[in-house]
Amino acid sequence: MSSGPLVRVAFPAPAPFGAGGPLAGVALLTIDRPEALNAVSFATIAELVSSLSVLDADPECRCVVLTGAGTRAFAAGADIRELAGQTPGSLRSGGAFERWDELRVIGLPIVAAVRGYALGGGCELAMACDLIVAGEDAQFGQPEIKLGVIPGAGGTQRLTRAIGKVRAMELILTGRSIGAREAAAAGLVNLVVPAEETLDRALELAGRIAAMPPLAVRAAKAMVNRVDETALTQGLADERQAFFDLFATEDQSEGMAAFTEKRTPTWRGR
Ligand code: CAA
Repeated sequence: MSSGPLVRVAFPAPAPFGAGGPLAGVALLTIDRPEALNAVSFATIAELVSSLSVLDADPECRCVVLTGAGTRAFAAGADIRELAGQTPGSLRSGGAFERWDELRVIGLPIVAAVRGYALGGGCELAMACDLIVAGEDAQFGQPEIKLGVIPGAGGTQRLTRAIGKVRAMELILTGRSIGAREAAAAGLVNLVVPAEETLDRALELAGRIAAMPPLAVRAAKAMVNRVDETALTQGLADERQAFFDLFATEDQSEGMAAFTEKRTPTWRGR
């Protein structure tokens, strides 16, 4: 077992494909338990949300890439050894699963870079991110049924929203996992890339998002996520409010002035 942090933080992240210095505005978080295929223990999720909260409050950070150490897994689930001895009471009072809810309040966009297994809590973690870059070796699934339980960190809800009821039902009831291409065809991932390029391609994507005006990026993420929380009429009203509010920002003045003056805008996050 490694004795260091369970989640490594590199901010700024290294540039993709070794191109030059660090990647401005992008942080790289790595779940670092390769000996357990990066299983998400209670301490791991706590450390992950703490690191994300710190980055979320840092105006220099514009986008996060989340990955797993090594080449075999993004994360092979919640930690089964830790779960094995739990009771309904210990799970309710332990507070560990509430930590998963804190992922939802992170305003920064998060890109999951998935190689190998993203199973159970690993699949749930990838789906709690905003975009997913999958290596050709990625495997997604919710195998909890084979352990006598069901997904407990959002799998029944997020997988169903991502790929539709009938496909989600089959995967959750049988525990079958799907490869990167099937996941892409089902709408679960943004792109499938050669396995060894996964992290670099995710960093590249994050770099493109980090170059966008940060207040508009946060507003856009919040509004897309509103879809899962609200009916259309309310969602449209919320979107209009957020759109109007951005007209009080310097980035809106700058973005539109730069367009008119045919120059590159400089974003200030104000
Ligand atoms: N929790 C704890 N340890 C895990 C783990 C997990 N989810 N997944 C893998 N490991 C550990 C294994 O115990 C093993 O440790 P040791 O070397 O100390 O024995 C090590 O990682 C390597 O794993 P395997 O030897 O099993 O590797 P494999 O190549 O033979 O199999 C695998 C890979 C198919 C992913 C297999 O490890 C596996 O089935 N893992 C469990 C997947 C799973 O059921 N995930 C759901 C967990 S429950 C959950 O996530 C609930 C929720 O919704 C929150």
